[in-house]
Amino acid sequence: MAAVALAGRTGEVLARAGDVRELLTRTERDRADALRFAADRDDFVAAHALVRLCAAELLGRPARSLTVVQSCGRCDRPHGRPSLAGVAGIGVSFAHTRGWVAAAAAHGPVGIDLEADDGRTPLDRQVTERACGPAELAELRTAPDARRTFLRQWVRKESLVKVGEAALDEVGRLDLPVYRPGPARWGDWWLTDWSAPGAVGCVAAHEHVRLRAVFGGHYEEPR
Ligand SMILES: CC(C)(COP(=O)(O)OP(=O)(O)OC[C@H]1O[C@@H](n2cnc3c(N)ncnc32)[C@H](O)[C@@H]1OP(=O)(O)O)[C@@H](O)C(=O)NCCC(=O)NCCS
Ligand SMILES: [Zn+2]
Repeated sequence: MAAVALAGRTGEVLARAGDVRELLTRTERDRADALRFAADRDDFVAAHALVRLCAAELLGRPARSLTVVQSCGRCDRPHGRPSLAGVAGIGVSFAHTRGWVAAAAAHGPVGIDLEADDGRTPLDRQVTERACGPAELAELRTAPDARRTFLRQWVRKESLVKVGEAALDEVGRLDLPVYRPGPARWGDWWLTDWSAPGAVGCVAAHEHVRLRAVFGGHYEEPR
């Protein structure tokens, strides 16, 4: 089966997917409980549940039979790149940002990112210069909406960070093609973009992935 990727509002996942907290491991629930703000806890729980829904669809198995584990290359805390315990060869990824979540599962490596977009926060020139390559910076200078164009690049870069193509502080060397409607390629990766009025996202995988809205809500389908 082709890769499964879903994105949508945190509230939709929590309202429509039953008692999603029950799907999480004790370790994940402890991490969620340690978050100070209820909204962050909701985003965390929804994303960790949504990745199971993606993997369940991909594997044809109940979500409750899947255990997500995370380990860090730098410390012994249970965070970092996620994987499915006891299931070889399947890549999983998820992201959460103020009120939005996204997740993906694929036969092979996959990375997904999304960022909320309030439509107002201005571009920070220092951030763009650190994060973009020369071709991207040239495009940004003439883009009709440089803010949104940068956000699109940023989620592409983070999706590639999550598959291990670069560290977060090295994304400036990923001089990626600038977003145009339709799937893009970069090296061996397909970059599939997603956007809704309040968020943008991208999934990186070795196959072209159709990123669907959670539970069929409305979103701008990549053309
Ligand atoms: C991967 C990373 C770019 C994502 O950050 P973000 O934009 O703040 O958050 P997102 O919601 O988009 O993604 C978070 C998810 O990415 C995943 N993730 C974290 N590190 C990852 C990695 N190295 N590779 C792939 N996925 C990773 C986790 O699923 C995480 O979810 P969780 O926080 O609920 O466990 C960021 O966590 C990072 O750069 N981590 C590396 C930094 C590091 O090594 N820190 C050391 C800690 S000791
Ligand atoms: Zn760590």
